[in-house]
Amino acid sequence: MRRKKSLLKSISLVASAVILMPIAAIAAPAAGAANTSAKPITRPPAARLAQVGIPKIVQTTCFACHGLHGMAVTSAYPNLAGQWPSYIEKQLHNFKTHKRADPLAPVMWAMAAPLSDKTIKQVAQYFFIQKPAPGKSFAPKQVAAGRKIYFGGLPSKGVPACYACHGGTAAGLPPWFPRLAGQRRQYVVNQLTYFKKGLRTNDPKSMMRYIASRLSAKQIKEMAAFVRSE
Ligand code: HEC
Ligand code: HEC
Repeated sequence: MRRKKSLLKSISLVASAVILMPIAAIAAPAAGAANTSAKPITRPPAARLAQVGIPKIVQTTCFACHGLHGMAVTSAYPNLAGQWPSYIEKQLHNFKTHKRADPLAPVMWAMAAPLSDKTIKQVAQYFFIQKPAPGKSFAPKQVAAGRKIYFGGLPSKGVPACYACHGGTAAGLPPWFPRLAGQRRQYVVNQLTYFKKGLRTNDPKSMMRYIASRLSAKQIKEMAAFVRSE
């Protein structure tokens, strides 16, 4: 618990620094601080998760929307394959307590409700060890516009570069910053719009609400195109 508190404290320092400091100055410290506070990530063998029945839980519930191997069945649902276990766990707890309450979240409230803390940990590991979605190349103009914001931010609007927190290959930085690479387009558009409108409010220190509120609908589409292509 104490460790968790101090992690939270360090993340909030990173967040305030990112928001208050000039964009050029924040990238390295934000990435560095996020990295040093991370616990080593272990990749449990699939066989161990099978022994405790995790694939069965996935097959009977999650698979209908997230696929057996964490590949979403529609663009509005998130891929989970390769996502950091700490982030998946946080989201499942946030769904369970209804702290994540955006318009599509109630679908997940029902899914998360019966899961114990232990099962949440194991399901998170199951999806983490699945092979992440490969980038998909398309809409080169949109992708290029998104890439520019991803690495350069929007200095005139005070938007920091996304890579400072989500990493240079959009693979995320555990424990707090999710993987975005390969994520489904409609899902990303939805989440950025929810953050922008204050409908998703489970981001630590309002980090994403601050950022998304400064993106136009067009820029949100560009960000979704870019991360899908990574
Ligand atoms: C009926 C469809 C459906 C089923 C079944 C389902 N999910 Fe979801 N899941 C969703 C939708 C839709 C979202 C996006 C919700 C939103 O936009 O807030 C989501 C989001 C999530 C997220 C958040 C991902 C992120 O990137 O923030 C996690 C984690 C998750 N689901 C895990 C699971 C697990 C584990 C199961 C099985 C126990 C499961 N889901 C079953 C539809 C489903
Ligand atoms: C200051 C750090 C920071 C920066 C900079 C940042 N993000 Fe985030 N982002 C976060 C955190 C933290 C979360 C996870 C929120 C949570 O815990 O629910 C997140 C979540 C997201 C999500 C939701 C992912 C999911 O699976 O549901 C998207 C999409 C996203 N960010 C896109 C962006 C884009 C695009 C940019 C640049 C314009 C950006 N982020 C810049 C910290 C940041």
